[in-house]
Amino acid sequence: MRAARIHDYGPPDVLRVDEVPDPQPGPRDLLVRVHAASVNPVDYKIRSGGQRALIHYTLPWILGLDFSGEVVAVGSRVTRFAVGDHVYGSPTHRRPGTYAELLCVDERQAARKPRNMSHAEAASIPLVGMTAWGALVVQGRLKAGQKALIHAGSGGVGTFAIQLAKSLGAYVATTCSARNVDLCRSVGADEVIDYNEQRFDEVLKDYDYVLDALGGETRERSFRVLRRGGRLATMIGGFPDATKKHGPWLGAPVALWGLVSLSVRGALRHRVSVHHVLREPDGQLLDPITARIERGDIRAVIDRVLPLAEIAESHRYIETGRARGKIVIDTITEAPPAPAADPAPPPPSEEE
Ligand SMILES: NC(=O)c1ccc[n+]([C@@H]2O[C@H](COP(=O)([O-])OP(=O)(O)OC[C@H]3O[C@@H](n4cnc5c(N)ncnc54)[C@H](OP(=O)(O)O)[C@@H]3O)[C@@H](O)[C@H]2O)c1
Repeated sequence: MRAARIHDYGPPDVLRVDEVPDPQPGPRDLLVRVHAASVNPVDYKIRSGGQRALIHYTLPWILGLDFSGEVVAVGSRVTRFAVGDHVYGSPTHRRPGTYAELLCVDERQAARKPRNMSHAEAASIPLVGMTAWGALVVQGRLKAGQKALIHAGSGGVGTFAIQLAKSLGAYVATTCSARNVDLCRSVGADEVIDYNEQRFDEVLKDYDYVLDALGGETRERSFRVLRRGGRLATMIGGFPDATKKHGPWLGAPVALWGLVSLSVRGALRHRVSVHHVLREPDGQLLDPITARIERGDIRAVIDRVLPLAEIAESHRYIETGRARGKIVIDTITEAPPAPAADPAPPPPSEEE
């Protein structure tokens, strides 16, 4: 099969599409013909070596944490799925990833694909969906009538989290730049703050919940938006920055210390609780998300679809931090053939 692997840690060019042996499913595995994968910022953080202290890979390694596709074989102990089922999911980072034509995934990390979505749309959902579900529903306990600030509303997580918060009945404010205001409104945001024009902490007060997608001074200012007893969920662990500054091994304890001190500061100085968001690779978490998608509460927001051959380009783009919704990788369609070169000039005639 074809798969995109990193051969070293480094810039996007370390990603190469290789011919590799087909994976063989274990007893609890589905063998999935991947139709589409999607790209998440964590993929470039892993690729660049920013997560090395947390996750150790034997290189070369297939990246990718989102897939949608069709089951083509099942292991002997699989009970929930059969050959021909259409499934999607965000599997564990411990096994070879989804930037591939075939994927072995434990059936507990897969779910039935929403019927009203294409594979490209479905592949854009699992990681951001499970992250937002954990942050808003499980940790955030966000309720109807409560006020939520979701930062970076035009990003992969933001476009999903706004729709989820609205489906829970919350009032939603979000931040983005001017070009994305309409996008944020189209997914349901009640109040959109252009961060170049206004300081959100001067406009929003007494919020119940903040979802932090940015860290740094945005996270510090977010404390001022929360009411006493409110909740701040942060998706930013700070490992890539700490690794850059202190090296791969000292970076991890420095980042962990930063997270502990954030929680302490939140509790003692601001009287709010701080939650650290981690995606759980549990397929059953997708079932309530699938139900909301099929009810029409949540739709996919896709910035662009690229073929597997352009995987390095997809990383260059997501690393700009300017993606609007998700970047999807089409693992079925081959890259369009390169434009034909100009026909070779005829050989010179003997007279010349
Ligand atoms: N802990 C976890 O389990 C977990 C899970 C998922 C994601 N994450 C992390 O959460 C972060 C966000 O993920 P994502 O997938 O949503 O990223 P993304 O799709 O790359 O986010 C891009 C969006 O961020 C917006 N943005 C950039 N700077 C902003 C600012 N200062 N204020 C408001 N919006 C801003 C951009 O809008 P403009 O162009 O308008 O600025 C763009 O639309 C990443 O660092 C990711 O690694 C963590």
